[in-house]
Amino acid sequence: MLRLDGITKIYKVGAFGGRTMTAVDDVSFDLRPGEVVSLIGESGSGKTTIGRMILGLTSPSGGSITLDGARVTPGKAYYRHVQGVFQDPFSCYNPVFKVDRVLQMIKNEYFPGVAASEWEGRITESLKEVRLNPGQVLGKYPHQLSGGQLQRLLIARALLLDLRFLVADEITSMLDASTRIDVLNLLADLKSRGLGVLFVTHDLSLGNYISERAVVLYRGQVVESGPTEMVFGNPLHPYTIKLLSSVPQLTTKWDGASATLRDDGPAAPSTLVEAEPGHLVRQDDAPTRLRSVS
Ligand SMILES: Nc1ncnc2c1ncn2[C@@H]1O[C@H](COP(=O)(O)OP(=O)(O)OP(=O)(O)O)[C@@H](O)[C@H]1O
Ligand SMILES: [Mg+2]
Repeated sequence: MLRLDGITKIYKVGAFGGRTMTAVDDVSFDLRPGEVVSLIGESGSGKTTIGRMILGLTSPSGGSITLDGARVTPGKAYYRHVQGVFQDPFSCYNPVFKVDRVLQMIKNEYFPGVAASEWEGRITESLKEVRLNPGQVLGKYPHQLSGGQLQRLLIARALLLDLRFLVADEITSMLDASTRIDVLNLLADLKSRGLGVLFVTHDLSLGNYISERAVVLYRGQVVESGPTEMVFGNPLHPYTIKLLSSVPQLTTKWDGASATLRDDGPAAPSTLVEAEPGHLVRQDDAPTRLRSVS
């Protein structure tokens, strides 16, 4: 199990680094094998920062990340089990090299002793797992493949390792609708084979489609989390309600609720409260402030 416990990230900002900005504020949740957790929130809410901390690309300012109870130390052993795939697949490839190179790099780094013929077999196997035809992608340059193919190739690359957890950061946002569903179904396949996926998205319907649990972030804090059917079926935090009410007539009903969302200044002291088993909702410590009566 991959566990985040009170993870915080504070950036120094301003010309002389004199000010600080809390991008992620005391976030805790876990990711279990065979489960998709969607991490949902608007732009700037801290989703990518959380993914980057899990992947050891930036270090937390506080809190801990553990894998099976042991504190995570980013390095070769860790990356065998935990990998990331990101929004823009093109940026992960060097345009002057054939795409095969990203697979070869895995061999050089992790499996230098494996014979070429066996390695070819493993590549064929992992490409099939992501429903890519080896003949159609190998030997090609990045610009000769579609975004969906490049994205799947990156997932295939991760599968060459003994992968247990995948951080998928907005991986479908640059894909067209039908390719998006293909990639989502692929994640569902991988999940059924025991992979744990953190599915980062600002799109609630995608989160709803694929995940067992949902974590809703607002300004770096978890405002609501729990089994997807509870968070989506019975949203309790004003921010989640606002996100879910995409129909204009519905949003007007929630004027009172959305008015409580603070856009400026530090967040008021608040606590995550268990509303029903496993369903956590953030509440102001002065609860009357949450209920603005119309
Ligand atoms: N290296 C950095 N230095 C300073 N501030 C940063 C840095 N990286 C991110 N931030 C800030 O941290 C906050 C969270 O950023 P993050 O990229 O995690 O958001 P996000 O939820 O992934 O947004 P999006 O949906 O746009 O991808 C933002 O306000 C961002 O400006
Ligand atoms: Mg992001």
